[in-house]
Amino acid sequence: MLESLLHRFRAHRAVVGVIGMGYVGLPLVLRFAEAGFKVIGFDSEEEKVRALNTGKSYIRHCPSESIGRVLASGRFAATTTLERVPECDALLICLPTPLSPQREPDLSYVVRMAEALVEHLRAGQLVVLESTTYPGATNDVLRPVLARSGLVMGRELFLAFCPEREDPGSEAFTADEIPRVVGGVDEASGDLAEALYQQIVSRTVRVRDARTAEAVKLTENIFRAVNIALVNELKLIYSRLGIDIWEVIEAARTKPFGYMPFYPGPGIGGHCIPIDPFYLTWKAREVDLSTRFIELAGEINRAMPGQIVQVVQETLNERGRPLKDARIVILGLAYKPDVDDLRESPALVILEELLRRGARVDYHDPFIAEIPPTRRHKALTALRSLAWEEVLGGNHDLAVIATGHGKVDYAALCRALPLVIDTVNICRSIAPDNVIYA
Ligand SMILES: NC(=O)c1ccc[n+]([C@@H]2O[C@H](COP(=O)([O-])OP(=O)(O)OC[C@H]3O[C@@H](n4cnc5c(N)ncnc54)[C@H](O)[C@@H]3O)[C@@H](O)[C@H]2O)c1
Repeated sequence: MLESLLHRFRAHRAVVGVIGMGYVGLPLVLRFAEAGFKVIGFDSEEEKVRALNTGKSYIRHCPSESIGRVLASGRFAATTTLERVPECDALLICLPTPLSPQREPDLSYVVRMAEALVEHLRAGQLVVLESTTYPGATNDVLRPVLARSGLVMGRELFLAFCPEREDPGSEAFTADEIPRVVGGVDEASGDLAEALYQQIVSRTVRVRDARTAEAVKLTENIFRAVNIALVNELKLIYSRLGIDIWEVIEAARTKPFGYMPFYPGPGIGGHCIPIDPFYLTWKAREVDLSTRFIELAGEINRAMPGQIVQVVQETLNERGRPLKDARIVILGLAYKPDVDDLRESPALVILEELLRRGARVDYHDPFIAEIPPTRRHKALTALRSLAWEEVLGGNHDLAVIATGHGKVDYAALCRALPLVIDTVNICRSIAPDNVIYA
């Protein structure tokens, strides 16, 4: 069984099922379909499935043309039910793994899916979890649920963890250039998962088991969270000392060893960096340990939006203007440049806090026409992006650049508005004198 599955993977004759057609799942569909595999996409949202089956994308970096192409090739179809699971040789789970309101890992999407899969699984299938989770989750949580199928793990059914490593919005690397880390719950599962991913990336990194692969993913994201917190703290200190943090970083990064640049900003966002580290915090408690670096980094990063609001208030105050009724426009709501994703975006916190303090706030984001419902910012639902012409209309007292999108004309912004607070250093090359770097 193992040999025939290996052969199907290597010959690109396998059928790959991708469960969850979101930011992780949809690019994965394209990778496998473009490599010649037949791919079935599973998602519970009918609207998404309908869009995909008519060649329409809802994710900016997965163009509709690419979806149209794989549809036309007959190698891709999406569905809302699990009836086609038996057709798949591999099932890649790309479902959300959020934190609960008590900041504990919420694996309910993954567990409920595993429970539903049990009825449809057959001998000779590989299941891979791609969703971020804590060390041990694939083996200790997913494996016992899948075992209810009666299939023998490692002989009839195979299970591995292979974390997604995408850098949304960045064109620095193509997807096949980013190595994939793979770990199985047993040797055979690891072999199979490695063979499968070798077909879509130029390098796989095999680790001894799924737990290690899970720890790799968390380590990468904790590293980012902690280093971003460090530069955010340095920014506050240097700013008080009259030293420009951006100039410091540019100079420090010329050291060819022992230093890697991270940049300050208005806080951290996205589905990963603000959330994943706390998966380890929760797991560490099980062994009576605390994750002090993670907690401290979280505290510093979460304080950043408030610090920007403080700068806005002080800047207006110094010019004899109260924050109340001040007209402010926020540039960039997405959590990072050139993406249409505003999950956990610190810009939302800034927007909400400025409104709470009585300012009249608009936003402009070329990628986010309207704020969708969010769990934490219900009051902002349905707020619409101000047209660019209106931003330049001169009706605002101040702009706050929260995210620096490539296609926004910041020079025009600086000409049109009396004051600009730049939290991401994007106006530096334009060098107007009405910009405050916060
Ligand atoms: N977005 C990233 O850049 C990124 C990077 C690395 C890792 N991850 C991890 O990957 C996982 C998925 O993240 P994402 O950003 O793709 O999430 P997402 O919310 O964009 O996508 C999840 C998809 O699952 C679908 N879904 C929800 N419940 C379902 C169900 N019961 N059956 C079928 N489909 C269902 C949703 O409709 C959605 O399309 C998370 O664990 C995340 O931490 C994300």
